[in-house]
Amino acid sequence: MWSPWQRQQEALRAQLATLETQKQQKQTHAATLLAYGQRQVELSHKHYQGLFNASDSAAARLAQVPYLTLGAGWQGGAWDAWQPETATLESRLRIGALQDARAPQGPFSVPLLVPFIGENQTIVLRTRGEEGRVQGLELLQSLALRTALLLPHQASYVLLDPAGNGVAFLVRKALPRVVESQGDVRRDLDLVERNIQRVIETYLDAEVRSFEQVPESTRVNERFEFVLAADFPNQYDRRAVEGLIKVGNTGPRAGRYAIIHHNADVELPRDLSLEQLENAFVIDLGSSPRQGFPLAVDCTPPAALQQTLKKRLDEAKAPERDLSFTTKVGLPEQAWWNGSSERLIETPIGGYGTDGSLEAWFGVNRDGRPCAHGMLGAMTGAGKSNLYHVLICGLAQRYSPDELRLYLIDGKDGVEFQPYQALPHAAVVSLRSSPELSRSVLKDLLNEKERRNRLFKARGVQDFSAYRALGEALPRLLLLVDEYQELFEGDAEGEASAHLLQLAQQGRSVGIHMLIASQRYGATGMLHQSAVFGNVHLRMAMQMSRADVDALTEFGRRGKLLIQTCDMPGKIVLNDRSGDDGDGASRAGKVSRLQAAERDDMIRRLSARAQQRGLTAPRAVVFDGQAQPNLTDNPQLRSLLASVQTMTSEGLEALARRAEVEGGLGLESWFAAEQPLVTWLGQEFNVRGHARLVLRRRPHEHAMLLGRNNPARSGMLAALLAGLTVNPAAQNATVLLADLSLPGTQWSGALGGVVSTVLRPAGLQVTLTREAEDVPRLVQCALAVLEERRALPKEARGAQEPMFLVLNEPHEVEELRRVQDLYGANDSETGTMLRRLLAEGAQLGIHVVLSVPGVAQLRAVLDERQGLPLIKHRICLQVSEDDSYALTRTRRAARLQLHGDTPVAALYHDPEADAFTRFKPYSTDSATSLDQQFLEVNHLRGAQAVGA
Ligand SMILES: Nc1ncnc2c1ncn2[C@@H]1O[C@H](COP(=O)(O)OP(=O)(O)OP(=O)(O)O)[C@@H](O)[C@H]1O
Ligand SMILES: [Mg+2]
Repeated sequence: MWSPWQRQQEALRAQLATLETQKQQKQTHAATLLAYGQRQVELSHKHYQGLFNASDSAAARLAQVPYLTLGAGWQGGAWDAWQPETATLESRLRIGALQDARAPQGPFSVPLLVPFIGENQTIVLRTRGEEGRVQGLELLQSLALRTALLLPHQASYVLLDPAGNGVAFLVRKALPRVVESQGDVRRDLDLVERNIQRVIETYLDAEVRSFEQVPESTRVNERFEFVLAADFPNQYDRRAVEGLIKVGNTGPRAGRYAIIHHNADVELPRDLSLEQLENAFVIDLGSSPRQGFPLAVDCTPPAALQQTLKKRLDEAKAPERDLSFTTKVGLPEQAWWNGSSERLIETPIGGYGTDGSLEAWFGVNRDGRPCAHGMLGAMTGAGKSNLYHVLICGLAQRYSPDELRLYLIDGKDGVEFQPYQALPHAAVVSLRSSPELSRSVLKDLLNEKERRNRLFKARGVQDFSAYRALGEALPRLLLLVDEYQELFEGDAEGEASAHLLQLAQQGRSVGIHMLIASQRYGATGMLHQSAVFGNVHLRMAMQMSRADVDALTEFGRRGKLLIQTCDMPGKIVLNDRSGDDGDGASRAGKVSRLQAAERDDMIRRLSARAQQRGLTAPRAVVFDGQAQPNLTDNPQLRSLLASVQTMTSEGLEALARRAEVEGGLGLESWFAAEQPLVTWLGQEFNVRGHARLVLRRRPHEHAMLLGRNNPARSGMLAALLAGLTVNPAAQNATVLLADLSLPGTQWSGALGGVVSTVLRPAGLQVTLTREAEDVPRLVQCALAVLEERRALPKEARGAQEPMFLVLNEPHEVEELRRVQDLYGANDSETGTMLRRLLAEGAQLGIHVVLSVPGVAQLRAVLDERQGLPLIKHRICLQVSEDDSYALTRTRRAARLQLHGDTPVAALYHDPEADAFTRFKPYSTDSATSLDQQFLEVNHLRGAQAVGA
């Protein structure tokens, strides 16, 4: 039975249970919240600790590197640790500091910054009164240096100070590059305006709206420019004021900023006001404190600091600004030699603007416009050599040697073209060229022009392209002459000018082009200059002196202004329309950079390619104006060596009589019946010429070498013997050789070397002695052969093999020396035999070669009046006047070294032509050792024997 209080008890118990459950729920909830809170505490602790740490380390870093570029003043040593590498483009520039004198720890200052790069503003520093003016000028100098430091290697300056003639800018010396003033503010500003236009045209578009947005890699080829105007408008005329306002308004987008010190005490010309500056940022330097803080304007930095900072600026590495050859010019190897030169030859040489390509070309383009020749003006260090390398390699990759051949002529001191000796395209490589030699190259090309005209005529066509269109093979020729002004040195007859004119006018139609280069365009002593340049359609200029740019008439106004912006190596202005400015034809850009290693590797690959393809273009004629020549660089000798095994006397006759340009020897008086033998003595001072000696079976065809220069005399004698081996008729010749030169000298091995390396392997019968007492036996032996041959019937004599009696230093042989008696000197017994050989030997194929230091030594063995005339071929090195007269009846041989000791020169009197030839004799003093050369001679002959 339930009592009501029992029921109530029940209800209370249930309520208690509910409350208990609720209490537990609340407790759990509270515990969760507590845990959550604790977790948050941990997290936030960690978070802030991280921030604190980061800020601590940032603070530590800042404490190490003084925070400079923007804020620091010149005093206080903050700049001492400055390094140019830390510079970045800044949009603010410090002009001074606001100071708070109330700060508890002493005066506190905050830098005052004005807008800078990318803000499109022109800073105007306004001053009043003399004190203010001085302050303004000081600040201007401070800003000049500061901008230079903010933009290492990227800033250039135009400093305007008409009232003070530049005295306002004593900081000038510390600035990296100051554009020379032309003495007239307006003209200086014109140049800036041109630059503004050029930069806008070249780099800016809808996307790139301001210079600093140009990709850095492209922009490094340009500079920011600062026009600093002091004491404006004092003595700025109306045109100058207008110019400055224009620069101020349009310059910042093109990276050209004007900073104007405005002296408010001076009135501007009527109707002009600085209000016309649309983007002026004016700072009144003399105004009262800003927000209560006085402004301390920066002064000129102390001189010592200027110097250190300038030094650091100069030493800083300029940003990488090379346009690589591989990307701009180079082709992948599989694309090499695909070009046809039928209409033109062309190659990129660099770039302009963001992605333009600068092209050099010669011939006739698709619009029928010609580009016959080119010209390059560039001062030293402007990057001329690099340009040559880029051009040569660019062309050599595009055209095979069958399409293009090169004539490369260095100036008197130049060896730039040396690496191209191995380039298959090289026809002529001349180093350290004398003017005489360079002129001979022009002459040579004129001969080639004549030859080509004959070819064209024979096929009934007018010019190169038409001839090639017939399917005929003929390469274009490009002549590159460095320091072309040297051509006119010592050219009394005006030969160089005449040749140049002919080539300029007539070269193109036969596929011969020139690129001439010099420090400046014109040259002293050059005639017909305008007629020549009239055919020079490709005009290029790199950095040039101000005076040379001013004197230029070969470029239009715009072109000239562009050339003035060529302020670093590799920058170039190229115009392929005779300098005409129209159509933006003058392009300012940068030549690609080709490193030496890359170039040499390319030459190797090109050469290997030519070999693989079996291209048999004749080997380059190599000429070094200062060195003695190499026998192995003699193309005539080389080609004869390669064919001697299969050559007949008749074949040789045909070859000998063929013109040199056709690959022959150009010896019209060569008759096989006279059994002539050819050999070489050296290289003439012209491109093709090789000093040769031809010995025929006629009276007195003997040779004599005379002179005190032993390396040259021995080298020449050894080379003469080596050369004989190319004659089919001399394959079984006998050589009786006495070498009495002083053993152990640098030249004494030459004859022994040629005997063992060349003569004996070639099959000649050689008797060699170094003993004086053997000489009489040699002479007797030769005389015995003479007697034998005399006894033969006339017809049989011709079949006898040639014999050479070669006596080096015969005066050393006692038995040969003439004998004195009461009535004078008489031939010795052996001497008499020698004289008979001289008188009667040559007709019978016995040739004597004597080599002596001077005429006195010759007189010791031969009677001057009776013996000397028996020797027809005389080769002299530099000798005394008397000796020269005795040998040549002229003073020529005494004047061989008038221009110095190198190269050693020699003189040969050619009895056939009755002409004197001056040449560089082969010598033991040559770049490649003579022994090495003999090995190669032997190899050249052997290589063919295997192939045959
Ligand atoms: N296109 C280029 N790009 C970058 N740097 C270049 C370029 N051309 C030349 N240079 C730099 O300029 C230096 C001089 O170049 P180069 O030897 O070609 O000048 P040059 O006018 O022939 O001088 P020189 O008058 O001494 O013969 C080079 O070593 C190279 O550092
Ligand atoms: Mg050079």
